[in-house]
Amino acid sequence: MSKKTVLVSGGAGFIGSHVTVELAQAGYDVVIADNFSNCDETNYRGVCAILGREMPLVRMDFCDRGAVDALFAQYPFDAVIHFAAFKAVGESVAEPLKYYRNNLLSFVNILDAAREKGGLNVLFSSSATVYGETDRLPVTEASPRQEAKSPYGNTKVMCEDILRDSVKAYPGIRGIALRYFNPIGAHPSALIGELPRGVPNNLVPFITQTAIGKRECLSVFGNDYPTPDGTCLRDYIDIVDLARAHVCAVTRMCEDRMKEPYEIFNVGTGRPVSVLELVNAFEKVNGVKLNWKFAPRRPGDVTAIWADPTLAEKELGWKAERSVEDTLKAAWAWERRLAGK
Ligand code: UFG
Repeated sequence: MSKKTVLVSGGAGFIGSHVTVELAQAGYDVVIADNFSNCDETNYRGVCAILGREMPLVRMDFCDRGAVDALFAQYPFDAVIHFAAFKAVGESVAEPLKYYRNNLLSFVNILDAAREKGGLNVLFSSSATVYGETDRLPVTEASPRQEAKSPYGNTKVMCEDILRDSVKAYPGIRGIALRYFNPIGAHPSALIGELPRGVPNNLVPFITQTAIGKRECLSVFGNDYPTPDGTCLRDYIDIVDLARAHVCAVTRMCEDRMKEPYEIFNVGTGRPVSVLELVNAFEKVNGVKLNWKFAPRRPGDVTAIWADPTLAEKELGWKAERSVEDTLKAAWAWERRLAGK
């Protein structure tokens, strides 16, 4: 196979940076494009350090159609992986138009440029949030989607549909939507990882920031859920495992191995873990004591969700490999490195 070129929109972010590393290490030419609206250059620098070379970087906003056209004129892309989007659930409820404008317009611009070019392999980063609350667990790709609880979640549902409809209408556009469960951890080099701005919304960055002393106390939201220990169950997927799934999906598209022109895959471990189990595992593997307390339920949280990852294993030849323990060690190593400890 001749060398393929992949555009990674939002490639300086948490997931994008890990995907860039795995793609480059698998032999792809990668072009990172980012407007740095929600991150600084730390992860971009880390990617270059891991790979031992300066990676092509384009500073641009995918909502700017002219900039998207210029990018497509400059590089002969074989595939695009689209990450560039806002992702804070609470903020999306307060500012829905900000989310609809940014998350939908950027994707429409990419697809339209792909259409004009005569086609492209498009990988969309979707989320398990599209499944909503369900008691039929684990969820398969055939599980029904539910009405989103936030504008953020709705943009994931809508972008899946925009991709599906574009694939149907425009010859040459092929698409895969990967539905991520809960991505956590950091690269084993501790050179790239999660960099939340302000107070973290997600559990693992809150844990690591509490352990390092940046936050006083972790609130465990809800202890009265109908689960074995009363806390919510999630499917925590290691960020490097998740990144490898993208390489498998891009390769499937570039090598013409898709069974349908639009495909969907769950990217999870198939293993439910409770909030308390995660907190206890973090303390144990890292030998640190975490200050935590129970707090009321967080509005919008589903009780439990985890993946049936069978289809990804069968079709992509991918499955999660790293244990939660290794992932939590990597997350802690990254936090310590950020703190210079
Ligand atoms: N949690 C706490 N304390 C915290 C943060 C989280 O107890 O400080 C709990 C939550 O209540 C939940 C679990 O930890 O039970 C996981 O919470 P996260 O915020 O880390 O992850 P979510 O499952 O809520 O979020 C995921 C994705 C989002 C997506 C959302 C939709 O990360 O992108 O699902 O439900 F929008």
